[in-house]
Amino acid sequence: MSERTIVLKLSGSIFSSGEFGRITKVIRNIVKTGKAGLYLVLIAGGGETARKYIESGRGLGLDQASLDELGIASSRLNARLLIAGLNGLASEKIPTSLQEIIEELELVHSSPKKKILVCGGLYPGQSTNAVGAIISEATHADEFVNATDVDGVYDKDPRKYSDAQKLAKVSAGELGRILESESVEAGMYDLMDPVALKIIARSKISTRIIKCDAGALRSVLVGDGAIVGTKIVF
Ligand code: UTP
Repeated sequence: MSERTIVLKLSGSIFSSGEFGRITKVIRNIVKTGKAGLYLVLIAGGGETARKYIESGRGLGLDQASLDELGIASSRLNARLLIAGLNGLASEKIPTSLQEIIEELELVHSSPKKKILVCGGLYPGQSTNAVGAIISEATHADEFVNATDVDGVYDKDPRKYSDAQKLAKVSAGELGRILESESVEAGMYDLMDPVALKIIARSKISTRIIKCDAGALRSVLVGDGAIVGTKIVF
């Protein structure tokens, strides 16, 4: 039986939206009824909870590393909710280091029932996109899917320019240039942070950026041939 591991970063925004129930249902159905041998590593973003806690922490004058820790704790809270929504298909333990992720994934592979590993953030100074990239690299995952608030990469900021074109493919170099360009403001067009992009490029990780909704996730996880989001090429 051929095994396939997909690392999937889920936007933190889903945990405070109605899409959460639909997304957990799609994931449960695909893992239960889909091709045998599919394993998922899910990374929960920090979303609204992280933003609120970081804002309150900033009001107290906390340093950046302590604010990051609040973000990491929020993403782990979201990870706990996600595990609850996966009805026993996910391992209960939320790993807190890369080593724990590798060990826990081995346990998942040898378990008859568990098919999913869920984690949140890992270390200060990065985002959960970087967590997805480093896990994909260390576990030799077949694909890294970054499910985010936008439906792919555009040649310029689609919120500012009505003639912005969505790209089916983008090279890692070109994506770096788009992210640096003036038309994309950091933190507002949350596609991929520089740490994540560096890891993806150095190991040529097969990566796709999609919208975090049930339809796009179904297409990508089932591999129905539909062109969804933007693929990063090398
Ligand atoms: P996220 O990257 O998940 O932010 O982490 P987000 O806004 O929810 O992103 P989307 O919407 O899912 O794409 C929230 C915060 O947690 C800290 C950072 O401060 C980040 O901004 N964090 C997260 C870390 O410091 N390290 C990590 O490994 C993950």
